[in-house]
Amino acid sequence: MVSHFVRKKISRYFTKENEIAFNNHIPSCKLLEEKFRGIHELGIYLHIPFCNQICPYCPYNKEIFNKEASRKYKDAVLKEIDRYAPILANKPVTSFYIGGGTPTTMIGNGLGEIINHIYKRFNMNCYVHLESHPNHLTLDNLDAMEKMGVKYLSVGVEALQDRHLKYIERPYTVAQVKKSIERAVARNFECINIDFIFDLPGQTEAEIEQASREMVKMGVRQAATYPLFRFPYTRLGREINNNGNAIVAIFRRRKFMKVIEGIFYDSGFERSSVWAFTKKGTNKYCSVTVPLYLGLGASGGSYLKDVFYVNTFSVIEYIKAIEEGKSPIALSIDLTEEMQMAAWLYWRIYETRFRKSDFEERFHTSFDRRYGNQLKLLTQIGFLKNGSDQIHLSDNGSYWIHAFEDFFSINYISKLWGTSGVEPWPERVVL
Ligand SMILES: C[S@@+](CC[C@H](N)C(=O)[O-])C[C@H]1O[C@@H](n2cnc3c(N)ncnc32)[C@H](O)[C@@H]1O
Ligand code: SF4
Repeated sequence: MVSHFVRKKISRYFTKENEIAFNNHIPSCKLLEEKFRGIHELGIYLHIPFCNQICPYCPYNKEIFNKEASRKYKDAVLKEIDRYAPILANKPVTSFYIGGGTPTTMIGNGLGEIINHIYKRFNMNCYVHLESHPNHLTLDNLDAMEKMGVKYLSVGVEALQDRHLKYIERPYTVAQVKKSIERAVARNFECINIDFIFDLPGQTEAEIEQASREMVKMGVRQAATYPLFRFPYTRLGREINNNGNAIVAIFRRRKFMKVIEGIFYDSGFERSSVWAFTKKGTNKYCSVTVPLYLGLGASGGSYLKDVFYVNTFSVIEYIKAIEEGKSPIALSIDLTEEMQMAAWLYWRIYETRFRKSDFEERFHTSFDRRYGNQLKLLTQIGFLKNGSDQIHLSDNGSYWIHAFEDFFSINYISKLWGTSGVEPWPERVVL
């Protein structure tokens, strides 16, 4: 109750809105054409909603892989691409990310066809960033990924002690996952990222230190180390939320994060986002890198300056809508200038550095005039360095400011994704 009140107050302070709500107003093709006209470049996110297993902590939109469903899904995505081709009107696409679910379930089941179609129909000026599951990194699949133009690969390793892998129900051992990574590292990817989850129940500082050293030894060029986020609509999220104290967890995670930071900095890595460390001189693996993007597939979300909208989360309903020539968009929200600024700032803070001039170019107003007071306070307590143009968050700053943001984002995501996961076409979702 108290947290709900505080959340509302702070949200109102930053967005000037009493209520942030998505509704089922679907933007028409004509309106989307107008929106895209004002955009110079964009990113593409493609969602593959299939997995071979359902992990007990995972908040993402997914269902168990099935060959027939994936074939129909591929056909629907091809048609959705065709719907957008005239709307995008040859705008350069400078970032392409395929996430899930587990996109590698569709290797040999239509993923190559979708990627080819995207490169044929859109003005692609970038390589593919792809999420993968360790058990899918066979020699044949690695060949296929290279042929598809994947240059940036992420692998969901998650833990490097067998007892933790078992607890989070991952279907491999440490020895097996190391072999998978070895096979991938031997290829020519620009950047391989390992996803790692820390602050698992009972995990010790010594275990986190050992796992971090192992990640460095594996020869990957990036590691994204996330604390276990407790989404209340996942089984593990519910179990841990009932047993753990959230405030104690925030301080414990900071201690763990310091161990991780120390090891990666000593090994030639630098911070590339709140949770990621990238080897110096490497282009980072990351989700869509440009501020405006189009989302394809079930639950794909699109952000076009003053509107954010999401497709239905239901795979069956997504396929049905496309087959019937209807829009798969389920929910949208019009964003006021204040909300756009808050969203812009959220993502730049996530990246831990940004330029005030980029804000000014986007919003035609002075960054210092808008956020000067907050900036002064955060600089005084050592959370960021405020240069004449460049703003750089310190390690403490990126941790604590993001912990503050998580107070909102986990709650917002849980409401939007939690509702959309059970209702294919919700009327309204209030965040
Ligand atoms: C879509 S999955 C990665 C690809 C593949 N599905 C897999 O599991 O290997 C994206 C990543 O999100 C992270 N993740 C999922 N649920 C999480 C949670 N509750 N807390 C922290 N990280 C989480 C995991 O690190 C996971 O690798
Ligand atoms: S963590 Fe990966 S494999 Fe597990 S359910 Fe989520 S998306 Fe699927």
